[in-house]
Amino acid sequence: MAETRRSVVLKRRPQGEPRPDDFAVVEEPIPPPGAGQVVTRTIWLSIDPYMRGRLNDAKSYAAPVAIGGVMEGETVGEVVAADALGFAAGDAVVGTRGWQSHGVADAARLVKLDRNGPPLSTYLGVLGMPGTTAYSGMKDIGEPKAGETAVISAASGAVGSVAGQLAKRAGARVVGIAGGAEKCRFVRETLGFDDCVDHRAADFPAALGRACPNGIDVYFENVGGDVQKAVFRLLNPFARVVMCGMVAEYNDTAPRPGPNLMFVVRNRAKIQGLIVSDKPERFAEWRALAAPWVRDGSLKYREDVVEGLENAPAALIGILGGRNFGKLLVRVGPDRI
Ligand SMILES: NC(=O)c1ccc[n+]([C@@H]2O[C@H](COP(=O)([O-])OP(=O)(O)OC[C@H]3O[C@@H](n4cnc5c(N)ncnc54)[C@H](OP(=O)(O)O)[C@@H]3O)[C@@H](O)[C@H]2O)c1
Repeated sequence: MAETRRSVVLKRRPQGEPRPDDFAVVEEPIPPPGAGQVVTRTIWLSIDPYMRGRLNDAKSYAAPVAIGGVMEGETVGEVVAADALGFAAGDAVVGTRGWQSHGVADAARLVKLDRNGPPLSTYLGVLGMPGTTAYSGMKDIGEPKAGETAVISAASGAVGSVAGQLAKRAGARVVGIAGGAEKCRFVRETLGFDDCVDHRAADFPAALGRACPNGIDVYFENVGGDVQKAVFRLLNPFARVVMCGMVAEYNDTAPRPGPNLMFVVRNRAKIQGLIVSDKPERFAEWRALAAPWVRDGSLKYREDVVEGLENAPAALIGILGGRNFGKLLVRVGPDRI
């Protein structure tokens, strides 16, 4: 077992867009596992937009990362030492947290993975937290139906790609919104959405209107900003809006002025927020449902891999500006040593 572990810590709170030197890499001895704990060597680290919120010292649904504290994040790892029943060196697990080469976690928080099943990385993306978010949002709030139009923003991303494919399975006409021609092509041709509109194009609001001639019944909101404005104008009576995230606004230093809400009354629209951890049972439910779809290739996904723990800060900065293409992951170590 390696003698030291590397961790990425928060050096100072960014104002606006984070910078690489807001973070630092520290090295320390690997602690032994306490009673009921497991030490893992990190294989994959997930980079997610919510991490920007953890950099602010502000009231939210989760506590901020402390200055000098280790950055938070889900990982897939290999057990290197355990003081817990049912875990042995070599086991693959998901559920430890932290931008670290080695994590220490209570065994109760870990899920063991089948190394002969879907690729380990998928448990951080299509089969993990982002996939579960899409599933929860569509099942509990969006409820797309045959004949309806569902619109998904950040459609090529980890959450959006699954949300759209679920709406498609429910029989809806599905329109994605993504940044640039290449992402839009992927959304149409690989993910199988009926259409995709480039939010960077000058005539985006009009193009979205043309792509949704019957209006919008379900909107899966991932970005906010000008995209949200263009979508809200097209909502149909009894539309459902899944408020999953507003990544376009995460680097803002002050909240933007909100929309006038009269359209909610006029359209009897339902707009509901979602935090995936509120329904922990959905994680296992989604894994059981979707793993066969991943295996048979009917649920498509794309991963964007950054090499090396020290590049995690740059990866986070990139996802907040749309520079990722697919589920963003950091490769911290090999699947096996
Ligand atoms: N509520 C929950 O429990 C929960 C859980 C997981 C994720 N989320 C939210 O779900 C959303 C998607 O997360 P993800 O992990 O799947 O990330 P992702 O979609 O893989 O990556 C983020 C994408 O957002 C888009 N984006 C970034 N800046 C933008 C801007 N200024 N305007 C328009 N689009 C912009 C970019 O795509 P384009 O290049 O296509 O614009 C970027 O690739 C985020 O808002 C996240 O916070 C919420």
